[in-house]
Amino acid sequence: MVAALTPRSLALGLAAATPLAGGNTPSVTDPHSREAHDIATLWWLMAILATVVFVAVMTMVALSLRSRAEDRRAVLEPDPRRSHQFIVIGGLLVPVVVLSVVGVATVATSNALQPRPASVRIVVDAEQWWWRLTYPDEGVVGANEVHVPVGERVELTLRSDNVIHSFWVPQLNGKVDVVPGQTNRMTFTATSAGTYWGQCAEFCGIAHARMAFVVVAQEPADYARWIEANRAPAVAATAGTAAHGEQIFVNSSCAGCHTVIGTSAAGTSGPDLTHFGSRGTIAARTLSNDRDNLARWLGATQDVKPGALMPEIDLSTEEIDQLVAYLEGLK
Ligand code: CUA
Repeated sequence: MVAALTPRSLALGLAAATPLAGGNTPSVTDPHSREAHDIATLWWLMAILATVVFVAVMTMVALSLRSRAEDRRAVLEPDPRRSHQFIVIGGLLVPVVVLSVVGVATVATSNALQPRPASVRIVVDAEQWWWRLTYPDEGVVGANEVHVPVGERVELTLRSDNVIHSFWVPQLNGKVDVVPGQTNRMTFTATSAGTYWGQCAEFCGIAHARMAFVVVAQEPADYARWIEANRAPAVAATAGTAAHGEQIFVNSSCAGCHTVIGTSAAGTSGPDLTHFGSRGTIAARTLSNDRDNLARWLGATQDVKPGALMPEIDLSTEEIDQLVAYLEGLK
């Protein structure tokens, strides 16, 4: 299933690698949750201590290189009391103090990051190579776009039935591995609305690099509207082209893998597409979601995302146009 490296696949691959709009630069030093703030504080503490130690050691090295002849004699025939003091302070006391500060801060931060019960629960299933999202309390299913309310603690239940993945949104929390046969948890409370970049951070196969996602933190009222809209069944296609697309979708192999609630399509091995048109990206953030990109994805899946488990089906340009019209209408 591995696509050959052709100029076409290279061009598509480069286009796919271009950062997509709707997600700011992911940085641990730009925290947007209480948990990420704790991690950033620890990061700065360690960075400052490391800088102080580095500058102190380099200063001593520089001074020793510039020393005069009489100082060099002092080094060759040292005063035993002074050199003993230097070893006790520089080799024992200072490291013990520095490492104790880092150790206590690390344990305190780890304790603060322990998962806790939350009002919003989301089950995240890591698939190859995308993220299946289930909101069990709200009856909402999605993919690759985690919506959460600002100011409320969110608990993620992380599962995998295939290989090891790792769920990482640097601006919201640290990495948590997603391990087959084990249920891991993560909680965070977003402190500001925004779209935060996430990435699978454990090599999980050929499309690992294209297993990205976003967390969309919304004001509670906007989040409630999103839940309401995503709880509803799919909008039925009315226009001619889209209606033809719906017929192709439910009667072809599309329906074997994808669900669109409100139609007979009820496959579960691929992402639920009931509200596909409202998502910002296609194929786990490989492409931004617009008509041209969707047509590329349907026509040359393996070029866009080599290794993707979605098989390429033989579709005419007209059929692709009809499917695009249908899928983009699924708001
Ligand atoms: Cu999933 Cu890497």
